[in-house]
Amino acid sequence: GAPVEVDISKMEPGQLIRVAWRGKPVWILNRTPEVLTTLATLDSKLADPVSNESLQPENSKNPVRSIKPEIFVAIGLCTHLGCSPTFRPEIAPADLGNDWKGGFFCPCHGSWFDLAGRVFRGVPAPTNLEIPPYRYETDNLIVIG
Ligand code: FES
Repeated sequence: GAPVEVDISKMEPGQLIRVAWRGKPVWILNRTPEVLTTLATLDSKLADPVSNESLQPENSKNPVRSIKPEIFVAIGLCTHLGCSPTFRPEIAPADLGNDWKGGFFCPCHGSWFDLAGRVFRGVPAPTNLEIPPYRYETDNLIVIG
């Protein structure tokens, strides 16, 4: 499939946009500084906090799993059996309660992911969400693929 260009110049903090690439949903999320701070506190709740077992390109191998920290790019398919998780910026899983700072929930069998696509412990999804190959053509133009 052809690469997909995404203009992020008008994205608001907290906004998620969805595009299609090679027939798959790809998410681009504008993460706030608060979210980035929170991500660093979640490691003990996650199955693979440093993404050793997860698919991601070299240029996003870092704690927040992205080239620019605030802009998260991921393939929006659950790593369990491929459903598309829903964006849950506010509604928390019961056992995380007040700790919840947003993430993604897969309704098919109940997998939770944080806003770096990292899977929480004890859910069916075996690995973190996949990060597609992408780069910045300019400051505000992402090329996926
Ligand atoms: Fe997502 Fe099973 S497909 S939890």
